[in-house]
Amino acid sequence: LTGENPSVGAVLVKNGKIIKEAVTSYNGRPHAEAILLRNKIFEKADLYVTLEPCCHFGKTPPCTSFIINSKIKRVFVGIKDPNPIVNGKGLKILKSAKIEVFNNILPEECAEPNEWFFKRFKSEFPYITIKTAISLDGKIATSTGISRWISSKKSRIFTQTLRKRHHAIMVGTNTILKDNPSLTIHEKNIIKQPDRIILDPDGILSPSFNVFKKHINERVFYFTGSKKTEKKFKNLNHVKIFYLPKKNCFLDILKIMKILKEEKVWSILVEGGGTLNASIIENNLVDRLYVVISPRLIGGKDAPTLFDGTGFKNLSKTPLLKNVEYIQSEQDIIITGFLKRYF
Ligand SMILES: NC(=O)c1ccc[n+]([C@@H]2O[C@H](COP(=O)([O-])OP(=O)(O)OC[C@H]3O[C@@H](n4cnc5c(N)ncnc54)[C@H](OP(=O)(O)O)[C@@H]3O)[C@@H](O)[C@H]2O)c1
Repeated sequence: LTGENPSVGAVLVKNGKIIKEAVTSYNGRPHAEAILLRNKIFEKADLYVTLEPCCHFGKTPPCTSFIINSKIKRVFVGIKDPNPIVNGKGLKILKSAKIEVFNNILPEECAEPNEWFFKRFKSEFPYITIKTAISLDGKIATSTGISRWISSKKSRIFTQTLRKRHHAIMVGTNTILKDNPSLTIHEKNIIKQPDRIILDPDGILSPSFNVFKKHINERVFYFTGSKKTEKKFKNLNHVKIFYLPKKNCFLDILKIMKILKEEKVWSILVEGGGTLNASIIENNLVDRLYVVISPRLIGGKDAPTLFDGTGFKNLSKTPLLKNVEYIQSEQDIIITGFLKRYF
């Protein structure tokens, strides 16, 4: 929800007590430090901030100016800003104003909510998270394609939080045909819905599916191999169509991800089925996974699983999550972990 800017938290402490807290606003402005400190003096107070304060003049003065003007005594920084226009310069400016600076105090914890921002300066691809709900026997739907709802109500609310933390949501054709999802955040007061990315090689979807509806300021990226779609979608200005040739029956996922990065889609939550997940996993594109495990049994060898495709033949080559966490969510367990890190 902070748009192109990372989400940053800042806390002011004086005499061992928290006196004020702030986070980056919707769409990234104002910054947390500006909300806390603008036009105020906090002599002898300490500032704790998750990311290095910015030092460049944009539409507003830099956060380093707010910190210096408010007479803060010490600044504790979670991690250095990876953006080359800041990257250590903010720390230097504070030090030269005789403020005591402690850097890198909790790098992993402070990078985690903004890992997409760290990847943005290191990769040609967006940050990619897969989220899936499975049964105890690893199925994402019944053999007839019914998947609503495998997970508990609380787990579905958690999915809403994940949508808020990503710039776009991606799905494949079959999920749209079976579920007709909207893929939105269910809140009225937001200023933008996440963008949506649809993969439809044969152009079989029609504009009446929920994913093509316009809500609040979102873009819809529609990738297809069929020129027939041009006519069907011509009245939907928020839908941007990309024609790509098919590669081994599918659309080239590496090319799609590069195009999306060029379109400034910084992070993607993949909520697709096992076929789309497989394509993303087999191309080594996944950064993080959230798997919601429901204690139910679906069964059936034709029921889709989290990861279909051809799979890995050699166990030693199979991806293994790092920094794994387990979250209890009513009767479900949510497992999350990383395949790649960027800080
Ligand atoms: N439990 C959950 O969390 C969850 C989440 C989502 C979906 N589902 C369920 O999963 C089922 C659908 O899964 P699915 O595996 O059949 O389909 P899917 O992953 O939703 O869609 C796959 C389709 O996307 C298209 N596609 C285009 N480019 C692709 C690429 N590079 N890689 C992969 N696919 C590409 C292909 O369409 P063409 O076939 O037209 O070539 C492919 O068949 C549904 O029953 C749905 O209810 C469950």
